[in-house]
Amino acid sequence: MIKLIERLCLVGLIASVVILTLTALPSLGGSHLGGNVLLVHMMSSGVLVFVLPMIAVLWLARGRAIGPARTVETVGFWAMILMGLVTIASVFIIMLPITSTETMHQLVNVHRYAGFATVPAVVLFVAGVLRYRRMHSIRSTTPG
Ligand code: HEM
Repeated sequence: MIKLIERLCLVGLIASVVILTLTALPSLGGSHLGGNVLLVHMMSSGVLVFVLPMIAVLWLARGRAIGPARTVETVGFWAMILMGLVTIASVFIIMLPITSTETMHQLVNVHRYAGFATVPAVVLFVAGVLRYRRMHSIRSTTPG
């Protein structure tokens, strides 16, 4: 059951980050997100906000992100958690009635850089998970 939840979280993580990145790409041309693109960005952000803490709890509870065979997964895991938290916290703070307009602009920039930094971290993490699973399945099917 836990393995199924882990797999669903990984699928949610990959799908949400792909959609978030695709919807964020137009901003590289200097424009800001708006309309349907921002709507899709916000809808998929809900998935990331849900699966990121789930993955953090599941991986830490099982002591998964530890050990020399899991270096890629571990580095990716912590980079993803750190950058993901900054990405989420930056937009969360913008929505509170405590920031000036100037601070909001700065936080949108923080969100932009942290969001794009989350992408390679997620790639590293998923690559580490797949690599470990492949090594593990080869070992368990090789006699001796
Ligand atoms: C891989 C993850 C993500 C990436 C790459 C990303 C990237 C971006 C980029 C480049 C922008 C445009 C900033 C600008 O207009 O200058 C943006 C805007 C926005 N993002 Fe994300 N984002 C990600 C995740 C999230 C999450 C998890 C949330 C919500 C919790 C979120 C909410 C928003 C909102 C509300 C805006 C509009 C900000 C504004 O213009 O006022 N994003 N994002």
